[in-house]
Amino acid sequence: MSAQTAIETHKLYIETVGCQMNMLDSEMVVASLRQQGYELTDSIDEADTLLFNTCSVREQAENKTYSALGRLRKAKQEMPEKIIGVMGCMAQKDQQLIFKRAPYVDIIAGPGQLKEIPDLIAKARSEGGQHVAVGLGRKDGKVADIKRSHETFDPMRDPSMRPTPFQAFLRIQIGCDKFCTYCIVPMTRGPEQGRDPQMVYDEAVILADQGCKEITLLGQTVNSYKHVAADGTTTRLADLLVKLHDIDGIERIKFVTNYPKDMTYDLLTTIRDLEKVSPYLHVPLQSGSDAVLKRMKRGYTVADYREMMARINETLGDAAAISSDFIVGFCGETEEEFQETVNLVEECRFKNSFIFKYSERPGTKASDHLPDDIPHDVKKRRNNELLAVQNRISEEDNQKFLSQTVQVLVEGPSKRVDAQINGGGPNPETGLMQLTGRTHCDRIVVFEGTERLIGQTIPVGIYEISAFTLIGTVITDHAVSQSLVGLNG
Ligand code: 5AD
Ligand code: SF4
Repeated sequence: MSAQTAIETHKLYIETVGCQMNMLDSEMVVASLRQQGYELTDSIDEADTLLFNTCSVREQAENKTYSALGRLRKAKQEMPEKIIGVMGCMAQKDQQLIFKRAPYVDIIAGPGQLKEIPDLIAKARSEGGQHVAVGLGRKDGKVADIKRSHETFDPMRDPSMRPTPFQAFLRIQIGCDKFCTYCIVPMTRGPEQGRDPQMVYDEAVILADQGCKEITLLGQTVNSYKHVAADGTTTRLADLLVKLHDIDGIERIKFVTNYPKDMTYDLLTTIRDLEKVSPYLHVPLQSGSDAVLKRMKRGYTVADYREMMARINETLGDAAAISSDFIVGFCGETEEEFQETVNLVEECRFKNSFIFKYSERPGTKASDHLPDDIPHDVKKRRNNELLAVQNRISEEDNQKFLSQTVQVLVEGPSKRVDAQINGGGPNPETGLMQLTGRTHCDRIVVFEGTERLIGQTIPVGIYEISAFTLIGTVITDHAVSQSLVGLNG
């Protein structure tokens, strides 16, 4: 096959790193390129268009992307007609720097310029040269212009790019205005903007029509969501949840990521009263030390966070599953300050926590004013220590699910290597395979079942647990009568 024929088929390879926003952005870009006749491929060699959707939150993610780009140097020399594009947060942050480090990159598109990608690719293909489309910097013009330059284009949906056909992300908020001192997101994704609730609703209806059962609303501080219409009507997250709850076909509504200060009583009672809304709340605490929180400019104290926990317990009780993010080894973090974090994790008993070693990000306040003075091995030790505490708590708290029945939305074959028979496929003798899904409160459940269960919500009886997983059996009428016999007999 000649290089020319390969080009005419327009095959797209896309690599996505980072958060759920990026997964959603990739879905949109793929949808728009498919309309232009592109087909997806997972082979770099076969592709004539390669896109990297990038993350700038930590340096390691950027290094990975630069290495991946480095590996393409030779491929581009051999097939110069291959178009290589960098999109997402790194594109916005590094802009021309990407061309310096990887001069064979053809296009750069920020998170607010994704709709321009098909044109940028077409231009690069027809005219050659390098093409850049990025949003305005936070001080580069009038607020309205800056906001516009970071707007996303969301109505394009492509079910095949989703985590599963019956689960979808739905963006309700763009950008962030919190400016935590360590964080690059307000620079890469621009000012906070709540999307028009009617647009969000219409998109949710499209998703439901496409067979989607679970929607996860996305925003950097999703519970700060606010939209003020031209007539002055204000919509908050609680109002939006009420509106979306009415859509037939949608069974579960989740939302991430939350900001502690905006977890209001009003929002919590709405979550309690709407059965489709998951009582799973991801509310990053970042540190258990007031001094560190202050240096991070998080805008709350440990006492505020404790009050929020009390509000959650009061409204949602045992049903609530709270998870968190932490940064260890932030500028000047002393052993005592780190210990305060450990103590607070013990106290809060999160469902799970994501723990990160502080990574200095040029362009942030911390990078400008606070030295990144905690040695890497200390960050690593603190990371491991906190993770060990969290994992013990997760395992202890999962015990309460033993012998319980949970409702599981079945997502697909389990990726747990130790649980796989036949490489994840069905056992030829029984037709059963290891499946995985999640409870309403976001706990991962693994069990044996047939392929046709995928996409259904089913009861699973739990007989074993670990820190990360509940292991169970599908409850059928037969299984119930069996277990009753077992109990009585
Ligand atoms: N270094 C390490 N972790 C970071 N996060 C954000 N910025 C940084 C950084 N500079 C973490 C926070 C956030 C999560 C998405 O990433 O914990 O909640
Ligand atoms: Fe970053 Fe803070 Fe905004 Fe979260 S709230 S995206 S950590 S600036």
